[in-house]
Amino acid sequence: MASKNPFNDLHYSFSKKLFLKYSLYALLPLLFLHFYFSPFSFTPTNLSPSNNHVLIPSSKEVLDKKSVVKRSTCDYSKGEWVRDKLGPLYNGSICETIKQGQNCMVSGRPDRDYLYWRWKPRQCQLPRFQPQTFLKLLRNKHIAFVGDSLARNQLESLLCMLSTVSKPDLYYTNGEDNKFRKWRFPSHNLNVSIYWSPFLVKGIEKENEGSFNTLYLEAVDERWAADLKDIDMLVFSAGHWYLHRAVYHYGDSVLGCHALDNCTEIGFYDVFGKALRTAFESVIQRKGPSGSAISVFLATFSPAHFEGEWDMLGACSKTLPYKGSEKGLKIMDAEMRRVGVEQVEEAKSKAKEYGNRVRIEALDISELAVLRADGHPGPYMHPFPFANGVPQRVQNDCVHWCLPGPIDTWNEIMLDLIKRRAGKSKAKT
Ligand SMILES: *[C@@H]1O[C@H](CO)[C@@H](O)[C@H](O)[C@H]1NC(C)=O
Ligand SMILES: *[C@@H]1O[C@H](CO)[C@@H](O)[C@H](O)[C@H]1NC(C)=O
Ligand SMILES: *[C@@H]1O[C@H](CO)[C@@H](O)[C@H](O)[C@H]1NC(C)=O
Repeated sequence: MASKNPFNDLHYSFSKKLFLKYSLYALLPLLFLHFYFSPFSFTPTNLSPSNNHVLIPSSKEVLDKKSVVKRSTCDYSKGEWVRDKLGPLYNGSICETIKQGQNCMVSGRPDRDYLYWRWKPRQCQLPRFQPQTFLKLLRNKHIAFVGDSLARNQLESLLCMLSTVSKPDLYYTNGEDNKFRKWRFPSHNLNVSIYWSPFLVKGIEKENEGSFNTLYLEAVDERWAADLKDIDMLVFSAGHWYLHRAVYHYGDSVLGCHALDNCTEIGFYDVFGKALRTAFESVIQRKGPSGSAISVFLATFSPAHFEGEWDMLGACSKTLPYKGSEKGLKIMDAEMRRVGVEQVEEAKSKAKEYGNRVRIEALDISELAVLRADGHPGPYMHPFPFANGVPQRVQNDCVHWCLPGPIDTWNEIMLDLIKRRAGKSKAKT
C-alpha cells in the first residue's frame, strides 16, 4: 500500500483539469512578462535622474552614480552551472545546524558530483561565499529568515558557511520542531533568526492531509512582524504552502478557495500576490518612517523535481545538473516566480518614499534552481534508506536541497547583492 505523501498537496492536490485552467491563464501574463520584464534585472531605475527621488542631485552625486552603475547591477538569474573543483565550503558531518533530512552525505548519499558546481551568471562573476565578508558587512545586525521549510533550508546553509569562521550560539528556541530559533555570533554581534510563517500572512495551518489551510490575506503574521523593530535584514522564502487546499479570507469576506468543493475556486497565484503585498506593506509601514533601516530579500519560488512517483525509486535520482536549455520553469513554477518578482517591483516603488531606509530586492533563484534536479535529498531524506536492501517503496524528498548543495548559491548571491550595495553607498559618500 502506498504511504501518505507529505508532499502530496504540494504537487498533486491540483487536479489535471484545474491545472490546465491555470496553465491557460498563466500564459498571458508570462508573455507579458517576457516582453516587459525580461531580462528581469535590478535595473537601476533609482539611479536614472528622471526617476530619482533626490530632486537636485549634486554634480558629484551624478558622477558617482554613473561610476557605480556597472558594479551595482547583475542579472543573476541567467547563466549556467559550471564545474568547480573547490567543492563546498563546509562539511555536513561537522556543521551542527543541518536538519537530518537534508544532510545527504551523512545519510549515505553515495555520489559526490552534485557538490562540484558553481553558478556562473552571464553578466557578472559570482564570487565564492566569503564568510568573513558577510560577518563584517552585517556586524551589529539582526537577520531574520521568514517563511516555510525552504527558508529554514537556506538559513541552515548560511549558518554552516558562517560557522567555518565563527561559531554561533543558539540562544532561543520555541515551537514544535524548533520552528522559531535565534543564534548569536558573538564575534560580530550578529544575530540570525528563523520565523516559521509559511503564508507570511496570518493563517491557520491544516492539521492533516484531509483538512485545509485558512488564510487571512490582509493580516500580516505577527509572529514575525511584531519583531520588525529589531530586524535589520529580512529574507522571505515561501510559496509551497500556497499549493495546498485552502480558504482565503480578506477582511470580513471570503474571497474564495483552492481545491475545495464547497466554495469558489480562485487558484493561488493571485492569492500569493496579495499575501506578499500585505507582508511588504507591513514592512514599509513599520520600518519606513522611523527606527533602523531594513533590507528585504524575497527568494523567488524554488521548484521541486518529482520526476516519478514520490515513493518509488528514482523520483529525483539525477546526479548531474541540467544544461541551460534542457530545462525551463514549468508553468506553475514560472507563475509563482512571476508573482514574487511583480510584488517586489511594486513594493520597491512604494518604499521609494523612504529613500534607502527600506530596500527590497528579489533573490531570483527559480531559474538556476530548476536546473539542479540533482541537488535534492531524494531517498536520503531518511538515513541509509538502502541499508537492508532496496525496498519496494522508498520515500523521496525532491523539494528541499541537500546541505551542502545548490541552495548555498542562494546565499552567495545574497552576499553579492549586499556587497554591491555596500560598494554603492560607499561611492556615494
Ligand atoms: C567530513 O568530516 C568527517 C569527520 O571529520 C570526515 O570523516 C569526512 O571525510 C569529511 N567529509 C568530507 C567530504 O570532507
Ligand atoms: C542580539 O540578541 C541579543 C539577545 O537578545 C541582544 O542583546 C542583542 O542586542 C542583539 N543584537 C543585535 C545586533 O540585534
Ligand atoms: C467548506 O466545507 C468545510 C467542511 O468540509 C467547512 O469547514 C468550511 O467552512 C466550508 N467552507 C465554506 C466557505 O463554506
